[in-house]
Amino acid sequence: MDALQIFPHLNGFLNLTSGLFLASGFFFILRKKVHAHRFCMLTATIISSIFVVSYLTYHALLTYAYGLGPTRFTGEGLARPIYFTILLSHTILAAGIGPFVIITLYHALRKNFAKHRKIARLVMPIWLYVSMTGFTVYMILYHLYPSR
Ligand code: HEM
Repeated sequence: MDALQIFPHLNGFLNLTSGLFLASGFFFILRKKVHAHRFCMLTATIISSIFVVSYLTYHALLTYAYGLGPTRFTGEGLARPIYFTILLSHTILAAGIGPFVIITLYHALRKNFAKHRKIARLVMPIWLYVSMTGFTVYMILYHLYPSR
């Protein structure tokens, strides 16, 4: 397998794992397990950061080293609006969530938990949505409707 072809699978895996840590972190804080929550949220942040680097590296290599465009979706009929709705909502939210994750972390690490909780209640579901739809897009594009 070409080294470049590993990236989509790595990125799909990173999305899934960060989503699992996010969901676990949420589960733990609802049960007041602050240490476990802290561990899961910091791990999810590290995994998501690795994802961003890997994603940007993949697209830079694809464009500049291989002269290729993004992978085309080959599905037809109803699958198209469903896929592009998921992709569009995922892309818009993914592009905007980064600074809010940093602010949420900042308040938690400064032990300003009232502010942390307020913004986290918005950031948590959006971040989870971004991770889960990232994995969904990967599954659709590379497993349900593979093009090459
Ligand atoms: C960006 C990463 C994080 C996110 C998205 C996040 C998310 C959340 C959410 C959604 C809640 C509210 C749960 C509820 O509805 O009651 C919460 C509460 C809390 N989080 Fe985080 N968390 C993050 C990082 C951290 C870190 C690193 C710590 C470090 C100790 C932490 C400590 C706490 C504590 C102590 C509470 C309870 C606050 C209270 O009830 O007043 N969180 N977090």
